[in-house]
Amino acid sequence: MTLITNEENLENNDNLDTADEEASSEFTIDYTLRPQQLEDYVGQEKIKKQLNVFLAAAKKRKEPLEHVLLYGPPGLGKTTLANIIAREMNVNIKTTSGPAIERVGDLGSILTNMQDGDVLFIDEIHRLNKSVEEVLYPAMEDHKLDLVVGKGPSAQALQIDLPKFTLIGATTRMGTLTGPLRDRFGVTHKLEFYNQDDIENIVKRSASILECNIDHDGAVCLAKSSRQTPRIANRLLKRARDWADVHGFTSINADVAQKTLDMLDIDKYGLEPTDREFLDLIIEKFDGGPVGVATIANALSEEVQNIEDVYEPYLMQQGFLSRSPRGRVVTDYYMQLSKK
Ligand SMILES: Nc1ncnc2c1ncn2[C@@H]1O[C@H](COP(=O)(O)OP(=O)(O)OP(=O)(O)O)[C@@H](O)[C@H]1O
Ligand SMILES: [Mg+2]
Repeated sequence: MTLITNEENLENNDNLDTADEEASSEFTIDYTLRPQQLEDYVGQEKIKKQLNVFLAAAKKRKEPLEHVLLYGPPGLGKTTLANIIAREMNVNIKTTSGPAIERVGDLGSILTNMQDGDVLFIDEIHRLNKSVEEVLYPAMEDHKLDLVVGKGPSAQALQIDLPKFTLIGATTRMGTLTGPLRDRFGVTHKLEFYNQDDIENIVKRSASILECNIDHDGAVCLAKSSRQTPRIANRLLKRARDWADVHGFTSINADVAQKTLDMLDIDKYGLEPTDREFLDLIIEKFDGGPVGVATIANALSEEVQNIEDVYEPYLMQQGFLSRSPRGRVVTDYYMQLSKK
């Protein structure tokens, strides 16, 4: 079972051997770039506005926050927001994920070790197994843990009082969450793709934390190709910083930014080779669609889930791809663009 706090996570990093050093330094950078307070969290204004009210109300009543469900495509800031909520409430956060909680006992040991008000963050909550999920219902609703001890005729049902914890669940797949679980969250926030201004601000903010110079045009250029996603914006910034360092530039301007994007083969719409391969496949082999997602996945040797969670949300948001009852269709809009 994995149960880690962010601090432990950082400490564990000290033990990594050299092969992991690069990944480790990327991890530490990511950790530093994470906004720590709600006011540093760029964009998602609607969510911040609501959260500010819920947080203030809970603090005023000295009650734990209601259970919160965060959903949206990868890299938009769900984990970051969960950590901010715990920090704003001034409570501890325990982080785990759906597949990591294998048995009911695992969940029991996490919950019984928490204190009133603490946050339990379950990432990929749609991947909880059924028996664990069923134990979670009364835990969320009444702060009770129902356990069965022993087997066969001597089995005994036990009920344990739990601390008044707040569950924060994160998922990229709202559709696969069961109804009963969804209904037990007091608040649900859907994270949206970020607008150009927000991503520019994230690039500038991250650049100043990394102490690397970037001018406005450089930030605009990187932001445009970031798929409206903070994680990608930060990744492009780090690669542009590498490019600038290696080529003797002291600042990231539009030219450095563009050269970095060229090097990475990312176009001005933020499409990577894999996205173009995906769209071209539908155009060339399936006449633009409609074609079923399983067929596409097969042709690309990708998992259906990966296509649905990682590729499609952005392509649909950009109006490059649409879903019909008979499958995926590349839009005329993208057809026109790709001809240019
Ligand atoms: N609103 C924001 N303002 C500034 N930076 C952000 C914001 N949201 C996310 N980030 C940055 O983007 C990175 C990715 O965010 P995060 O890990 O929270 O995404 P996620 O939604 O949990 O993704 P996944 O679904 O893959 O777990 C973070 O390291 C953080 O630095
Ligand atoms: Mg996350």
